Amino acid sequence: MTTKNISLTQRPSWKALEKHYQEIKPLHLRKLFQDDPDRAERFSLEALGIYLDYSKNRVTDNTMRLLLDLAEAADIRSRIDAMFSGEKINATEQRAVLHVALRAPKKISILVDGENVVPKVHQVLDKMAAFANRVRNGEWTGHTGKRIRNIVNIGIGGSDLGPMMAYEALKHYSDRNLTIRFVSNIDGTDIAEALRDLDPAETLFTVCSKTFTTIETLTNAQTARDWCLKSLGDQQAVAKHFVAVSTNEKEVAKFGIDTANMFEFWDWVGGRYSYDSAIGLSLMVGIGPENFRDMLSGFHAMDDHFRTAPFEKNLPVLLGLLGLWYINFFGAETHAILPYDQYLWRLSAYCQQLDMESNGKHVDLNGQVVDYHTGPVIWGQPGTNGQHAYYQLIHQGTRLIPCDFLGFCQSLNPSGTHHDLLMANFLAQTEALAFGKTTEEVKAEGVSPALVPHRTFEGNHPTNTILAEKLTPELLGKLIALYEHKVFVQGTIWNINSFDQWGVELGKVLATRITPELVNPIEPPLNHDGSTNRLIQRYRRFRAQA
Ligand code: F6P
Repeated sequence: MTTKNISLTQRPSWKALEKHYQEIKPLHLRKLFQDDPDRAERFSLEALGIYLDYSKNRVTDNTMRLLLDLAEAADIRSRIDAMFSGEKINATEQRAVLHVALRAPKKISILVDGENVVPKVHQVLDKMAAFANRVRNGEWTGHTGKRIRNIVNIGIGGSDLGPMMAYEALKHYSDRNLTIRFVSNIDGTDIAEALRDLDPAETLFTVCSKTFTTIETLTNAQTARDWCLKSLGDQQAVAKHFVAVSTNEKEVAKFGIDTANMFEFWDWVGGRYSYDSAIGLSLMVGIGPENFRDMLSGFHAMDDHFRTAPFEKNLPVLLGLLGLWYINFFGAETHAILPYDQYLWRLSAYCQQLDMESNGKHVDLNGQVVDYHTGPVIWGQPGTNGQHAYYQLIHQGTRLIPCDFLGFCQSLNPSGTHHDLLMANFLAQTEALAFGKTTEEVKAEGVSPALVPHRTFEGNHPTNTILAEKLTPELLGKLIALYEHKVFVQGTIWNINSFDQWGVELGKVLATRITPELVNPIEPPLNHDGSTNRLIQRYRRFRAQA
């Protein structure tokens, strides 16, 4: 039964979870496994080659039933249908939310304002593929006729993190004769270091910006153009060395990029949901169109799974509910994403934007301030590096930090004992986090009494284990769609708009006001608060000395 009209914390399913939490709170995972050694069989799920073991969570059958009731009460099913059918569920921007159309096969029809958008998605994909092949086979040359050997992607946020994370993740499948770099930061150091050893005659820039008004991207693109023209000395060179990816043809033309060299996407694709659109052009050049299409079919397979699988067997729904259980009932503030695969070293950063920009909201869809917590702080680094840095706090600190552990059974770079050692650590960590080491066990080791409390591991730290055979383009697509939809599940239950990002605006506006104030050592007079005024004055003083 849907109780969508009742505020979330007043719904029977929420109240039931609050009550149930009091029963679960004192329960230890040690006890849960002792009483029910087979729980991993029940609390695990295999779909699309992804095995999720969620048995090391502080849940019982009853918890899962209550969480699933909460999902039903939030009417997730009809929200999924609304998203997939192109309804304008991004209400504050009056936009459809159709990243799922970016990976829809040709035969599917998805309507936005009465128009089927799938054919135009495939037109752009074909245009991207033709371009990527020309660059890869040397047919597309630079202005002097030299072969393109370097691709520099300029973008920020979703126009950077997505293609960068995915390029790093799929480097194994990439053409190693091409150097692919990513520039995002307005800090001039970023582009200076990226271009330092490159030959402009062999370098192609993909300037990616949904709006084509983002100051960081336009400033970096301008610097790149100056760098290019300084060496090549001819305006005509821009056409051979710059392509744009945007929804804004007018601004692309204004910047001076030939719109024939523009790859389009649409306002129904959110920036952080866009790397499988033309925003992934640099990635496609790197890994080739075929691998890119394999990745898209992975995305689509997860979309289908999300749309059709019953909730108790639905990977994004389960991950969403488990995350929410800790955020709203245990008071967890953060969630760690810990890939045990070096190629996934940017995954946590990518998920950080995906989750925090989507669900970092404090008002619901009706504009009412919520009386429950929403999105967590997402963080993490690849294993095993984190083990020698911050895992101490996860094991023995005072906070509850739910973690996702991601790993693969096969290495893409098999070498000696590396992979077995990596995976032994992967498995050991979730075991240690769940079961810890009791005071009795420590004492039995003959540890001096004063050290016993220091060497005791409380355990009972929840983890999800996500295990797949091998990191492939298709698997990456499935994984990213899994996290996209997990975010959607949580946002739907919290009744927030996961697809706008008004919270980034104020800082942008203030920076625009401050920029001219930094340049002149005296004028204009400063009208900020006392702290900001003093900081600006100090900056002006030292800047003038430079
Ligand atoms: O300012 C936040 C944001 O709008 C993100 O949502 C987006 O991914 C990023 O900036 C870049 O925007 P654009 O692609 O329009 O340059």
